[in-house]
Amino acid sequence: LNYHVPRTRREILEILLKGLRRLEYRGYDSAGVGIDGGNVKDWETNGRSIQLIKQRGKVKALEDEIHKTQDMDLDVEFDVHLGIAHTRWATHGEPSPVNSHPHRSDKKNEFIVIHNGIITNYKDLRKFLESKGYEFESETDTESIAKLMKYMYDNRENDDLSFDTLVERVTQQLEGAFALVFKSVHYPGQAVGTRRGGPLLIGVRCDHKLSTDHIPILYRSTGKDKKACTSLPRLDQDTCLFPVEEKAVEYYFASDASAVIEHTNRVIFLEDDDVAAVSDGRLSIHRIKRTVGDHPARAIQTLQMELQQIMKGNYSSFMQKEIFEQPESVVNTMRGRVNFDENTVTLGGLKDHIKEILRCRRLILIACGTSYHAGVATRQVLEELTELPVMVELASDFLDRNTPVFRDDVCFFISQSGETADSLMALRYCKERGALTVGITNTVGSSISRETDCGVHINAGPEIGVASTKAYTSQFVALILFALMMSSDRISMQPRRREIIQGLKIMPDLIKEVLSLDDEIHHLATELYQQKSVLIMGRGYHYATCLEGALKIKEITYMHSEGILAGELKHGPLALVDKLMPVIMIIMRDHTYNKCQNALQQVVARQGRPIVVCDKDDYETIKNSSRTINVPHCVDCLQGILSVIPLQLLSFHLAVLRGYDVDCPRNLAKSVTVE
Ligand code: G6P
Repeated sequence: LNYHVPRTRREILEILLKGLRRLEYRGYDSAGVGIDGGNVKDWETNGRSIQLIKQRGKVKALEDEIHKTQDMDLDVEFDVHLGIAHTRWATHGEPSPVNSHPHRSDKKNEFIVIHNGIITNYKDLRKFLESKGYEFESETDTESIAKLMKYMYDNRENDDLSFDTLVERVTQQLEGAFALVFKSVHYPGQAVGTRRGGPLLIGVRCDHKLSTDHIPILYRSTGKDKKACTSLPRLDQDTCLFPVEEKAVEYYFASDASAVIEHTNRVIFLEDDDVAAVSDGRLSIHRIKRTVGDHPARAIQTLQMELQQIMKGNYSSFMQKEIFEQPESVVNTMRGRVNFDENTVTLGGLKDHIKEILRCRRLILIACGTSYHAGVATRQVLEELTELPVMVELASDFLDRNTPVFRDDVCFFISQSGETADSLMALRYCKERGALTVGITNTVGSSISRETDCGVHINAGPEIGVASTKAYTSQFVALILFALMMSSDRISMQPRRREIIQGLKIMPDLIKEVLSLDDEIHHLATELYQQKSVLIMGRGYHYATCLEGALKIKEITYMHSEGILAGELKHGPLALVDKLMPVIMIIMRDHTYNKCQNALQQVVARQGRPIVVCDKDDYETIKNSSRTINVPHCVDCLQGILSVIPLQLLSFHLAVLRGYDVDCPRNLAKSVTVE
């Protein structure tokens, strides 16, 4: 949304498309834009209009569609303009132009909306609106929001109803999770965005000084709440953000910072039920009423993210880049936290709560997907160093079971995005039961990082590839750091702590050594890529590696792959083994070594010819196996960082050889903000 920053329609579309390309990893089955239509000079006579362009497929398909659209003057210049755009991951209705966003209130596009999330009561809303004569064109839940907007606008009691009040009334009728941005011909040049459960931030680009570094909330209700509001320090405009000198300013509403970072690093993260409105160049944030614990202002934060971090550079895909970034990303997770000379670890985000954590009765690690595997991978060392019972839970199942949670539990929420709906719901569930909540996230300002009592940012840098790689190894390291911090004062554990800390010190070099196996793994992939299935077996510290390796293969190669606990081999999976079935085994020289050797023998005895990921100095395994991938040795509990990387590389090469888009696997999305 630009104010007094003249932009041609071409530029506006380019800004929107660029933003979508940056967000494409969140969903990519269809895309659309809504911009001011017609020609500025005709507006006085014909009124404003909104033009919608939507297409199935990736953002590129939308771009092609825009170029095909004839009736659009791309050179016309706007002094004030709001455009909205969306890239979709289908929840209701198949990917198609009509199901794509923006959705509209009517054929004249009076109100349009883009939505991230799910409206759970949309059937009731749709029934109600149909009874009022509205005709729906899509199968989506979102369309009912646009139609409800028009219904409420047409039935307004007075003419000076503001856009934000209208949005507030509409969202009061909505159930479910959402982040929404609205545009309307009735409110030209104005934008309103709101969220409940879905992320939404506002980037502010302004060459002048801003009048303030935070915006007080404008509460609508009167009485006591109003008093609370007016007792706040008075700022220039009391409740608005606007540039001091002029109104030359551009605002960007977006689901995450990567979409805005090339324009500005100043952002405001909205909270649930905030309604943010920009009108006449001013941004104000509204809430219906003030409740206990509400922070009465939103800070304008300066992000550290660099544009280059979200570019592919010389790599063919983000996933490949992120795999190769791991020597640096694990260092970034440890930076400023580990003193390798004194063998100490300090996690600033947990410092104030560590006493409480030390007194707790159990740790519960809750997450989804790859983040869950980081919990599985570190569970044993957490148990060892904290001497506490540790549960590792998939967020969806944890909620389905109504798992008992107590005040003296400490619950960890591990999430790269910090927005995964199941993990977020589980967080709220644990908070309600009085547990201390800890976030392990990679996204500053994300819902999980804001709603937890304390936490650790893994600082791996933006991860764009849908299949998570560097976030996994950084989550792994962050959880190890937590275990080390918890055991700081245990004298008996000092030798073990020292050994682990020294292992962490050399980890970046060891990761580089594993990455140098890339050609060898590529070669292996050329032999495997036409297979239908791959089994990955291991136990102990490497069970998580098996699960994570199999997930990577499933996600991006669409081959069937299963991570198998080698201890369970003879209870079923062995039946799958024959001379044709590709099997990968992880065998490391730790306390499970002999048992892993047994598993190897059992597989070989069934004519299996497993590919073994093993220690490069383990001559016995190398001698007894038809094929090995030899990785450097490190402390047992850290070895999982090194054993997973060959599988990341293998899945990457398999996907490329099979001709798939590595960064955008079918049917998946990076940030799953629906339950
Ligand atoms: C999605 C992604 C996975 C990710 C999982 C959890 O399924 O495709 O890569 O592991 O969500 O995401 P989170 O952001 O909570 O770590």
